[in-house]
Amino acid sequence: MTKIITPKPGIMDIELYVGGKSHAVGIENTVKLSSNENPFGPSPKAKDAYRNQTDFLAVYPSSDHNELRQAIANINRLNFEQVICGNGSDEIITFLCQAFAGVGDEVLFTEHGFGMYRICALGAGATPVEVPENSRVTDVDALIERCTENTKLIFIANPNNPTGTFIPLTEIERLIDGVPKNILIILDGAYAEYVEGYDGGAQLVEMHENVVMTRTFSKVYGLGGLRIGWGYASPEVVDILARLRGPFNINRAALSAAIAAVNDENYVNECLIQNNNCGNFLINEIRNLGFECDDTYANFILPRFIDENQADAANAALENAGLIVRQVKGYNLHNCLRITIGKEVDCYRVINTLKKFKENQS
Ligand SMILES: Cc1ncc(COP(=O)(O)O)c(C=O)c1O
Repeated sequence: MTKIITPKPGIMDIELYVGGKSHAVGIENTVKLSSNENPFGPSPKAKDAYRNQTDFLAVYPSSDHNELRQAIANINRLNFEQVICGNGSDEIITFLCQAFAGVGDEVLFTEHGFGMYRICALGAGATPVEVPENSRVTDVDALIERCTENTKLIFIANPNNPTGTFIPLTEIERLIDGVPKNILIILDGAYAEYVEGYDGGAQLVEMHENVVMTRTFSKVYGLGGLRIGWGYASPEVVDILARLRGPFNINRAALSAAIAAVNDENYVNECLIQNNNCGNFLINEIRNLGFECDDTYANFILPRFIDENQADAANAALENAGLIVRQVKGYNLHNCLRITIGKEVDCYRVINTLKKFKENQS
């Protein structure tokens, strides 16, 4: 039978997203280290703000998000009118592809770039283009070389997920100088807070009309479940994206919690210190066990095993011990596992399990 109902070209090329596992059947005391969530959750002030909305559930939320945009701008020293909020930074990525890329246009991202770039490019009818990295690090020269007259968007996650690697501002400046000004460069800063002294590229946004920054409340702010992200762009780009935004794309409980979360700088700093200490411990111990692992600039690590079989076996050993980590075969990293940096106790469990695993292997 001929199909009458068919989607636009590109849609059926999108592979359904597979999220991080959260359970291991029959195993108790599991801990989820598969989605780069903050193991401490959000600030207690954000939880209170969320609870305080229960009497107002019938009332539509603010449509302009002014209070949240103002709070984000104050804390990050940004221009309020250049901030746009989304239902997770995923939504800002979607708007960018919808607004700026269509059939015949190319959307560039790096070899192990975040999966939503491909999905959103295809969803907009554009052609996703994967550009090689240099040993899991964004390769600016390769990106510049791969630009054509059809290139409309370049996405760079910095730090990158799932590699955890980072390129300095000087490299990003080289990219900006090296590509035509009509190409939008998106600096995805989902993990920017984890890099001390890094503004996610905010200053570059203020200097260049073709640079956009995206950020999220899902990582260090511990609000992944509420879906809040934001973008920082020139007023012209914000105006374009705002036309695609549903008027009530962020619910009122999420708005309130995010305002409280962004204002609680002490809590965020405490979480960053813990993450840094535990991340250093994990990487040192993993290297001591003889596994390779790049330095991380985020809240996860990516140990590399000898081959896919060993990575599968390590994954099974961790899962049997109640530690649910992320296989990253979809990112063409068959011999790696991505492990979220959890609480100290979780990190000890990871290392003890890998120690036993190593002993059993030899
Ligand atoms: C690099 C990167 N960008 C964007 C996102 C999306 O985050 P959000 O929860 O804000 O949609 C993630 C989530 O894991 C990510 O790793």
